[in-house]
Amino acid sequence: MMRRAVVKGVGHYLPERVVPNAEFEKTLDTSDAWIKARTGIERRHFAAAGETTSDLATHAAKAALAMAGMDGNDIDAIVLATSTADLTFPSAATMVQHNIGNTSGYAFDVQAVCAGFVYALSNANALIMSGQADRVLVIGAETFSRIMDWTDRSTCVLFGDGAGALILEAENGNGDAADRGILSTNLNSDGRYKDLLYVDGGVSTQNTGMLRMEGKEVFRHAVEKLAKTADTALEKVGLGPDDVSWVVPHQANIRIIQATARKLGVEMERVVVTVQDHGNTSAASIPLALSSAITDGKIKQGDLVVTEAIGGGLAWGAVVIRW
Ligand code: UT7
Repeated sequence: MMRRAVVKGVGHYLPERVVPNAEFEKTLDTSDAWIKARTGIERRHFAAAGETTSDLATHAAKAALAMAGMDGNDIDAIVLATSTADLTFPSAATMVQHNIGNTSGYAFDVQAVCAGFVYALSNANALIMSGQADRVLVIGAETFSRIMDWTDRSTCVLFGDGAGALILEAENGNGDAADRGILSTNLNSDGRYKDLLYVDGGVSTQNTGMLRMEGKEVFRHAVEKLAKTADTALEKVGLGPDDVSWVVPHQANIRIIQATARKLGVEMERVVVTVQDHGNTSAASIPLALSSAITDGKIKQGDLVVTEAIGGGLAWGAVVIRW
């Protein structure tokens, strides 16, 4: 017998305002055609003035709780992945904790930029495997619209705001790859690549800063590292690409998603794609895609799902889940 972290509910939330590519044509030397062709993005959502990351996260968390048939106090731990928390402290996770009426558990943020959700999932799995928690609410939530340089066409057209949440609960499995739940995780980071993707400010440097990216270089690292981390996570449990029902990748660029799928040996029919509607929502992109795929009836109980993501750090990783 082996403890497993099994998915019991998912939910997501997108801010009301939808911004189509054409809107950027008014202020920048860009076009809907360029953005669509080079990234696959057609629109994204932006949070309203005063709408914060913990607000988006709370909506997603409530939707996941409803699907799981749980209420706030059923949760032992809340792990929230974000790089755009409401305040320097306390964590956005404690704000969500309050909003869902949880007073019995504990909550904290995880910061691994676009890889944040796979980091949060992996750490939530460790909490369950070690017996420190039975039920964990895992959230990815971002308001990247707050850290855009609106004069930089190479970055500001790429990102969007949103949140997704997932609830894990401890169950006993047999300890083999047929078990439901998280079967394996693989996390990596390499701080030598800091200058490829970063925000040029922060608390310790006394300004909020804006996102800076060497897009071409990040692209190159992404395809190679994502395929490898997904392969490694599958190998850990004796599985391969043919066993995969769905790849749910970080949604940064359709060309990265396609090239990674090709390298991994999974055809696009088995890849969940939401980048056209959400843009890159950083740590929110995977739970948003997972929740959309559930809503669309794609992912079903028993399916083998592989998530993979890379972002600033560089930090990257993959999680293999039997749904
Ligand atoms: O989530 C974290 C991970 N991040 C990523 O995965 C992002 C990875 N990178 C990318 O997705 C792509 O590199 C970009 C979408 C950022 C850029 O696409 P690209 O095909 O690598 O284009 P590029 O940077 O090579 O730029 C090609 C041309 C340049 O013009 P010149 O130098 O050839 O005259 C850019 O200035 O496209 C120009 N360009 C634009 N043109 C119109 C850059 N941005 C735009 C734009 N509209 N918005």
